[in-house]
Amino acid sequence: MISIGIVGAGQFARHFAPLFALHPGVGDVYVTDVIPERATALVDECDLTGTFDDVDAMLASDVDAIAIFTQRWTHGPQAVAALEAGKHVYSTVPMAFTVDEVAAILDAVRRTGLVYMMGETSHYNPATVFARDKREQGAFGRVFYVEGDYVHDMDLGFYAAYQYSGGPEWKRTASFPPMKYPTHSVGGVLGALDAHAVSVSCVGIADDRDDGVFDREVSDFGNDFSNASALFEMSDGGAMRVNEFRRVGYPSHIRESRFRFFGTEGSFEQLAEVSVWQDKSGVDDVSADLECVPSMDADDPALRHIAPDLRPAFISGHAPVHDTGRLPDSYAVAPNGHDGSHQFLVDDFVTAVATGTLPPVNAWVAARYTVPGLVAHESALRGGERLPIPDFGDAPL
Ligand SMILES: NC(=O)c1ccc[n+]([C@@H]2O[C@H](COP(=O)([O-])OP(=O)(O)OC[C@H]3O[C@@H](n4cnc5c(N)ncnc54)[C@H](O)[C@@H]3O)[C@@H](O)[C@H]2O)c1
Repeated sequence: MISIGIVGAGQFARHFAPLFALHPGVGDVYVTDVIPERATALVDECDLTGTFDDVDAMLASDVDAIAIFTQRWTHGPQAVAALEAGKHVYSTVPMAFTVDEVAAILDAVRRTGLVYMMGETSHYNPATVFARDKREQGAFGRVFYVEGDYVHDMDLGFYAAYQYSGGPEWKRTASFPPMKYPTHSVGGVLGALDAHAVSVSCVGIADDRDDGVFDREVSDFGNDFSNASALFEMSDGGAMRVNEFRRVGYPSHIRESRFRFFGTEGSFEQLAEVSVWQDKSGVDDVSADLECVPSMDADDPALRHIAPDLRPAFISGHAPVHDTGRLPDSYAVAPNGHDGSHQFLVDDFVTAVATGTLPPVNAWVAARYTVPGLVAHESALRGGERLPIPDFGDAPL
């Protein structure tokens, strides 16, 4: 059994802590947070092993793996420090804030041989799983055009989340550049394909709400783009269009990541509540196959015992396309979320560490899910100039 140290006991960690604790391959689970009360509360809430005073103490301990749940601009240096300390790393998205930070993680993974995994929820989005299966069956023919959207309006949860995350100065970081958080759109597309992005031209759309959030004078990132749209050239000669929208009249709580794949023989298109498979003969409504059905009642006492502070969004259950047979029995009563992905992600990581194998979203895949957006933001800052995307290659066999 492996031990896990969770870094950051904020909003997202509390939905994963019970999954780490319940996994049969995991023993002790520790937590640390710069706000110590958050770490203590999470340990009490989920009946975990204990806390560490800070990350350094956790890295100096004998925990086997570190799970990074800190704010989105902090992951790169933390992942490298953990790898250098001899710890396997699970990191929430994005992999890093700059291309240099991505390169440093890959370098540390190569040198240490430790497991690095990015917890990209879209990799298990039912639409991505469906498209992955169709591609493997050859049903698309040649996939030549794909689209991924992450359409999450600021009014639908993000104001509250950034206030919790950033405290009184929250407006400085609520302006996080949309294309620097690209993995829910790019990852959902590339998770179904055998290709990656090689160049990009991106248009950044300056915000006009004037509430001090996407304000370059206030923003720690000097960012005023609240929406951005990018066109990528792919390694197989195809095209990928990605939208990252934070100001959008769209029901993000129904579906925040949406995908479309066009091939020479078949295509797949997804809207908020409808998904269709199409070929040259007609249309097949596959919405039901992709619908996650909550597996338990939010008030189920057994579930509440495991995760007392769970929001209804985190009992998503699974969709018919998901391979739930591979999950541990202990997840039958357990939280889940983001279209049924959380349980797969934790299981992927624990399995990779236990067996010494590469997880599906390993460092090389994580780089291909992250770097295109980092370069797209740069392109937008340069008025849409088409820029090459550095590639770190395929994961070693
Ligand atoms: N679908 C998804 O994959 C998804 C969804 C939500 C959030 N996330 C990701 O999860 C991460 C966490 O998001 P969140 O909403 O929980 O953020 P949050 O701000 O609520 O929590 C982050 C916590 O980390 C703590 N922290 C920061 N630096 C630290 C350090 N050096 N040592 C110890 N603790 C530290 C903070 O005090 C805070 O409690 C983000 O990277 C976000 O992008 C991913």
